[in-house]
Amino acid sequence: MAEVVILDSPKTIASLAADAVVSLLADKPTAVLGLATGSSPLALYDELVRRHRAGEVSFARAKAFMLDEYVGLSDSHPERYRNVIEREIASRVDFEPGAVAGPDGNAADLKAACAAYEEAIRAAGGIDLQILGIGSDGHIAFNEPSSSLSSRTRIKTLTQQTIADNARFFGGDEAAVPRHVLTQGLGTIMEARHLVLMALGRSKAEAVHQMLEGGVSALWPASIIQFHPHATVLLDTGAASRLQLTSYYRHVYAGKPAWQQL
Ligand code: F6R
Repeated sequence: MAEVVILDSPKTIASLAADAVVSLLADKPTAVLGLATGSSPLALYDELVRRHRAGEVSFARAKAFMLDEYVGLSDSHPERYRNVIEREIASRVDFEPGAVAGPDGNAADLKAACAAYEEAIRAAGGIDLQILGIGSDGHIAFNEPSSSLSSRTRIKTLTQQTIADNARFFGGDEAAVPRHVLTQGLGTIMEARHLVLMALGRSKAEAVHQMLEGGVSALWPASIIQFHPHATVLLDTGAASRLQLTSYYRHVYAGKPAWQQL
């Protein structure tokens, strides 16, 4: 099963996730990271920047791949995920130019761009640690309900729920949210060696419950992580509020040996 850790504050969640990234880079400076956008990882990115400035971690030899990208936002649009990642993390630490890649949502041939992205991940040796959020409809990356559980990077249509959820990044205007995205598939994500998923707030509670405790199903695409050999799920109490086995998760984490990392 996934390791489920329920914590009191976004800050503690960010700090634990940062520990995982920092210790990976200490062991393997050339590690390949998978970066999510959205609000869930923002505190983690701030914490990584803080540790980088404190001299505790370097990304100079690392590479990173983004999870997804909107189709059709202009290159300079502030919500284009490539720009979001640049702003929130890439430009604030010491990645080499070109070390952070994302699917090209403006490619003339989107299908070819998806295939090229898969190939780039493969050529880099695969993703060591994939940071994930979860949508309130149970998506990871932009694998919306009904996604193939073995899908690869491809074009998807956002659900009405995700459009409504993401309108907050577009001044509250649902009409401004692109309908289409390029996203790593569930099969792509499942090949990352360690998944670290963060979820905050009650709006994620049902999706988190279905992901961890429901049946594995295309209706709740994140449930595929039940098959992952090394998945860590970091939750605040709101996101954990519909879980059935809360006391067991707390018991397991409280008894975890000090030497065992996430
Ligand atoms: C973003 C992504 C999405 C988000 C999810 C949650 O790259 O892949 O799956 O992680 O929509 O978004 P937030 O964190 O904004 O609640």
